[in-house]
Formats: sequence, C-alpha cells, structure tokens
Amino acid sequence: MATIGTSIETAASLLLAGEVVAIPTETVYGLAAVIHSEGAIRKVFSVKNRPFTDPLIVHVKDIEAIRPLVTDFPPLARKLMEAFSPGPLTVLFPKSEEVPDLVTNSSPLVAIRIPRHPVCLALLKRVGVPIAAPSANPFGGISPTKANHVQTGIGDKIPYILDGGQSEVGLESTIVQILAGDKLKVLRKGGISEEELQLFAELVGEEKVTKEFSEPVVPGSMLSHYAPTKPLHFFSEQRIKNSPPDSTGILCFREFVPGFPQQHQRRLSPKGDLVEAARNLFDALHELDELPVGQILSERFPEQGLGKAIQDRLYRASQKRT
Ligand code: TXA
Ligand code: MG
Repeated sequence: MATIGTSIETAASLLLAGEVVAIPTETVYGLAAVIHSEGAIRKVFSVKNRPFTDPLIVHVKDIEAIRPLVTDFPPLARKLMEAFSPGPLTVLFPKSEEVPDLVTNSSPLVAIRIPRHPVCLALLKRVGVPIAAPSANPFGGISPTKANHVQTGIGDKIPYILDGGQSEVGLESTIVQILAGDKLKVLRKGGISEEELQLFAELVGEEKVTKEFSEPVVPGSMLSHYAPTKPLHFFSEQRIKNSPPDSTGILCFREFVPGFPQQHQRRLSPKGDLVEAARNLFDALHELDELPVGQILSERFPEQGLGKAIQDRLYRASQKRT
C-alpha cells in the first residue's frame, strides 16, 4: 500500500524523480505527475486504467506560470483567472509546445487550473514545474476527497499519498472554454457555480454563459461516471416503499428518511447548505458503497448553486456502466 504522509519534501522528490504521487487539492485528490516526465504521465493513465484519449488538467502555481504553456492568453481568460484563481476553475487555452501531446491527447487545447489548497500550492512552488493531475480514483469511479479514499482505490499502485485533510470543495473544478465572441461555454459543472460565472460575465460585460452539457464534450461528462459499485437510484415513493430497509443505503440532504436504519443513511447537510453538501458528497458515497447494502437511494438536490453539480454527479452515478 502507499505511504500516507504530510511531507511536501517527500512528495516533491518523488515527483521530480519521475514518480506519481497523490496530492490534495481543494476540489478532490489528484494523481500527480510532472508534465515533462513521459514515464510518469503514462503511469498516471495506467494506475487509473484511464484511456489516453481522456486528457489531463495541468496545475500551475500562479497566473504567470500559465504563459509558457499557451500560445495565446486572451484577455477574458486572464480576467477569469484573476476572478476565480486560485480556486476550482479550469480554463482551456491554445497549448504551446511546452505541453506534451500525451497530456492533451494531441488536442491543440490544454486545460489549466491554479488550485487553492495551501499544501498543493506549496508543493507546486517547491516542484517548480507544472503538474498534470486527474482525480486520484480508478477511471469511472467516485472521486476521492480524503487520503483514505485514494488508499482504497489505487493505494497498491502508487508510492505516496500527500495528506491534506478533507477536500474543502468536494466537487471537481468547473471547466470552461472561451468561444468566439467571448462566450463562455461550461464543459463540466463543478466547484464554481453557474450563477457565479453568470455574475462574472455580467460584471465584465461579456456574452452570457452558454451551457452545453448534453454532448459528451469531456470524458468527465460521459454518462456513467463518478459511480459507486452498488446501483444508485433516485428517491421515488414507490422505491422507498419497496426497498428493504436493512439492505438499502440512503443519501439525503437535510433529513433522514424514516423507516431506514440511520447507520445506513448519510445526511449531507442538516442545515440545508449546498456548499456543505458538496463537501460531503463523495465521502458519503464512498461510505455508502462500503456498507453491507445492495443498493443506494438518493434524494434529488435543488438545481441551484452547487446543487446543479451535485445533481449532475448523482445522475451520472445512477447510470449503468457500459
Ligand atoms: O478539480 C479538478 O479538476 C481535479 C483536481 C485533481 O484538480 N481534476 C480532475 O481531473 O477532475 P479529471 O482528469 O478527473 O477530469 C478532468 C476533465 C476530464 O473529463 C478531461 O476530459 C477534461 O477535464 N479535459 C482535460 N484536458 C482537456 C482538454 N485539453 N480539452 C478538453 N477537456 C479536457
Ligand atoms: Mg475524474
């Protein structure tokens, strides 16, 4: 199994020696490799069992570190980065030669973000080069928000997990692309809500934010994703009535569901706070998946703020794997 520790020095030495290391970020834990180490990047894909066609997000320490990785830094991209970074926003840029094709699946675009987790930022500064990092879970599974989730999922394949505590946001970054006419297209809902992006667009006087989630533009938006091993269904009167209480796990928002044992229920936010619910979502799914139950029933979350990204992850978790 991997060593779990808090040494930035150990993580940095391993990365610089061409190893992969699991790292904390404010969204979810990532499986990191320096972008120029071809062997380490290949290992990232193989550890996750992820196809090379699914490109990786590049993480940098600050806005200046983006410049060498891109051939153009449009003013709107700079404003976006200034508004939301460091933080859970990823922006697509035209990539320069500095970014190996392996990282982007030969796409002319590279996805870049500046994480705000202090341990992650300190590591990026110490390593001094950009780091590619997908979420540190087996491909298609539930993303990790704690070091032990990483250990359970891929711990037997990596040397070190840098422990930064529970991820504060709990949902992956929002991914946006800037289209002609300075339209913002959201490719993946995430830790920055659509309302925040809309407000930003209005403040800088740009076009409205467009949303195009229907097509599988990025593999993270493929239908079956973020999935527990147990089948997950949304609440319906019928399902609640017909589900055996002892072999059903329940994911709920504010209130437990009467008639089901509470030790089989995970409540995301008793006070009804969607930010708190997002933080607890993946941890609750990991825990429910480990209970001796045959299925998980989930409440539907309100489609506002982070509720939209929560509902998006749960919907994908409810889809059958193909
Ligand atoms: O919050 C996050 O973004 C986390 C943490 C670790 O930073 N990372 C993450 O990575 O969620 P991953 O690989 O699990 O999801 C990244 C998504 C994938 O669906 C990928 O297809 C998309 O970003 N992506 C990456 N580079 C891209 C590119 N050049 N063009 C289009 N989509 C891209
Ligand atoms: Mg992922």
